[in-house]
Amino acid sequence: MTTLPFATRLDNVETSAIREVFKLLGKPGIISFAGGFPDSDLFDAEGILAAAQQALRETPGAALQYGATEGYQPLREQLARFMAEKGVSELTPEQLLVTTGSQQALDLLGKTLIEPGDKVIVEAPTFSATIQVFRLYGAEVITAPIDRDGVCPEALAALIAEHRPKLVYLIPTFGNPSGAILSAERRLQVLRLALQTQTLLVEDDPYGDLYFDAPPPPSLLAMATEIPGSRAWLAHCGSLSKVLSPGLRVGWLIAPPTLLANAVMCKQFSDAHTSTLAQVTAANYLASGVMSARLAQVRQAYALRARAMAAALRHTAGEAIAFNEPAGGLFIWARLTGANGKLTDSQTLAQRAVERGVAFVPGAPFFASNPDAAALRLSFATASVATIEEGVRRLALAL
Ligand SMILES: Cc1ncc(COP(=O)(O)O)c(C=O)c1O
Repeated sequence: MTTLPFATRLDNVETSAIREVFKLLGKPGIISFAGGFPDSDLFDAEGILAAAQQALRETPGAALQYGATEGYQPLREQLARFMAEKGVSELTPEQLLVTTGSQQALDLLGKTLIEPGDKVIVEAPTFSATIQVFRLYGAEVITAPIDRDGVCPEALAALIAEHRPKLVYLIPTFGNPSGAILSAERRLQVLRLALQTQTLLVEDDPYGDLYFDAPPPPSLLAMATEIPGSRAWLAHCGSLSKVLSPGLRVGWLIAPPTLLANAVMCKQFSDAHTSTLAQVTAANYLASGVMSARLAQVRQAYALRARAMAAALRHTAGEAIAFNEPAGGLFIWARLTGANGKLTDSQTLAQRAVERGVAFVPGAPFFASNPDAAALRLSFATASVATIEEGVRRLALAL
């Protein structure tokens, strides 16, 4: 067999280690805490159907024709309004590029900014696909430590001074996988740091709307008004995936004008524009005004499952699994403590757990360096409370 001359940049990346776990899920009866998906039963299929019908009935030209790379203007307007409701003032639709999922926004940031050998800083742990995207463009990925209040500003300041990174990528609200929330005070510190060191901050925020009780602090983008000048050093990625539907593939990038213009240019070469049918559907859905009631339902469902999983873990695994109870998002990020002679290696636990009929993702792929072998991510999003309790029971037996 001949070997095709693939680009050397592919040497920097691999297919997701998380996908490897999915291969194990074929076993009948297996309970999965492995996915990063929202629950399909929570999709507002009726509402999306009505929005799609409206798109095809009222604006078939816009919904089925090529569209502007920047995005369908009424959707950009709706998304600017959606952001304004979350405290982002002074945002015009023209400052927002509609992307094919926020994943494309991350890719466009990599494409427009990163040269081989550049350094970028991410949290330890962080979203593994972002690590891969930055590496694809040749970045050296440096990790910054986090605690339950998110990234530690002092450590981040020292890393920026040492490495002079091209950008710092943060998931400040209900991090994937950590579930951590960057405190309001730290948000201001991080914005100040970006301004002082003239370092681009990338805020990835697909989970901020999925809070269980009190809303989290406003996004970095919303808080940037408190640190004048910081907005020039901030890019924000948003997504409808976790709040409405990932299949629509509607995300967005808000960035300083020159960065946005370059991202638009690169998107032209990539997919020309995000699906117009999906964009018109999303615009109609948002304009129908049902989103906030829908979000309330979704939050309530996830809150119930998160609490059930936390209670089951405390009850059945006791001190052998340590975790902070999440206040939003889709995940519990946990550590095997080894208490009472139980396992400390999450990879071994993953194998044993599958034999017991429950799957989860070991934590290692979420670290760009120095993986924590004891860490694991448990998603409570797609299982009922009864299934969660049974899954945790099986997990505890495998410990
Ligand atoms: C932190 C984070 N960013 C981005 C994405 C990509 O989402 P999408 O492309 O569906 O908007 C995900 C998906 O799981 C995520 O967890």
